Amino acid sequence: MISNDHQKYLVSNYALPALSIVRGQGTKLWDSEGNEYLDFTSGIAVTNLGHNHPEWVRQLNKQSMILTHCSNLFSIPEQVRLAKRLVEKIGPGKVLFCNSGAEANEAMIKLARLSASHGKNGHRNEILVAENGFHGRTMGALSATASSKYRNGFDPLLPGFHFAPFNNLEAFVSLITEKTGAIMLESVQGEGGIHVADDAFLQGLEKICASRNILLLLDEVQAGIGRTGEFLGFQKSGVMPGAVAMAKGLGAGFPIGALWVGKPWENIFTPGTHGTTFGGSPLACSAAHSVLDIMEKENLVQAAKLKGNFLAAKLNELRVKFSNLDLEVRGRGLMLALAMRKEPAPLIKRMRDNGLLVVGAAGNTIRLLPPLNVKQDEIVQAIAIIEKSLKDQ
Ligand SMILES: Cc1ncc(COP(=O)(O)O)c(C=O)c1O
Repeated sequence: MISNDHQKYLVSNYALPALSIVRGQGTKLWDSEGNEYLDFTSGIAVTNLGHNHPEWVRQLNKQSMILTHCSNLFSIPEQVRLAKRLVEKIGPGKVLFCNSGAEANEAMIKLARLSASHGKNGHRNEILVAENGFHGRTMGALSATASSKYRNGFDPLLPGFHFAPFNNLEAFVSLITEKTGAIMLESVQGEGGIHVADDAFLQGLEKICASRNILLLLDEVQAGIGRTGEFLGFQKSGVMPGAVAMAKGLGAGFPIGALWVGKPWENIFTPGTHGTTFGGSPLACSAAHSVLDIMEKENLVQAAKLKGNFLAAKLNELRVKFSNLDLEVRGRGLMLALAMRKEPAPLIKRMRDNGLLVVGAAGNTIRLLPPLNVKQDEIVQAIAIIEKSLKDQ
């Protein structure tokens, strides 16, 4: 039940929720009335280890008794070690820490602007971004988000952003001007409805960026940290971007964001050009270390691929079985979607009433984002709930 105080004391920037969630364990969540749910939202691609993974909890407890925060006035060993681990996973370069996906994108946008102001790429400070993307709610990240649904009411946004259709290399190339200094997109559009960038599209962008000295900026906030069956979504295509924004699954429930900057741009930020009070605290970095440790130990990147294939196959069986509904299955790994002709809110409600939590996205899409360690029988259970909910249409 939602407390009456919810509307009284909370700013109404979210629709009034249907449930009040009070407890979690693994893939399960419980509401304030004791009802149990399978959580296929993972807090929107955050709790990739499920809720309260015992080793993650132990690590957070342990670090909180040693040191939680000390600011970036000082070198933080957990931060240095985490930056090294990320560089080893992504490529030569350096890392900047922050607290969220929007902040990681802000830092990425500032990198492009600062790089241009240094004359590094001929003072070209405009950014060409994919349509239908989502990069966050802060003013810079919002300026890089094309959809009027998010932008309306916040003018004037930052100038210097232009938009090109996702997965359309020709259109991107045709919109590059003498002012274009960076290209920015997600490898898998999440809020946009789970659209996967084609390998050839990303490879084409990489080539164009290399030949014209344009920074390729990839937003891996939702697709990253194992969710698509690669550590980062773009890695399947083998491209090497100029910078990568990460957050969400990196802390798996403890806020942390990170910007990886490739070698040619690694010294663009100099002392005083950017900063954050909380970014990369010992506690946040310790949570991220625990995530990486558990992912390695439990082979969760591979698990996302295998379980994702299983879930996608089961969803495709439903697509065939309910052919009258004109369903479409999209995505990769455990970043999957069921898209339909109709507005999906009533179906999402039926799934919830039947014990499965999923999250909507643009284009009449339901996102399925279970934790990477979801059990096979939980997937089977979720499919049975989806089937029952589709039948009740
Ligand atoms: C691709 C992408 N980028 C950025 C963001 C913003 O992240 P945050 O909500 O942590 O600011 C999101 C959030 O959904 C996202 O999906």
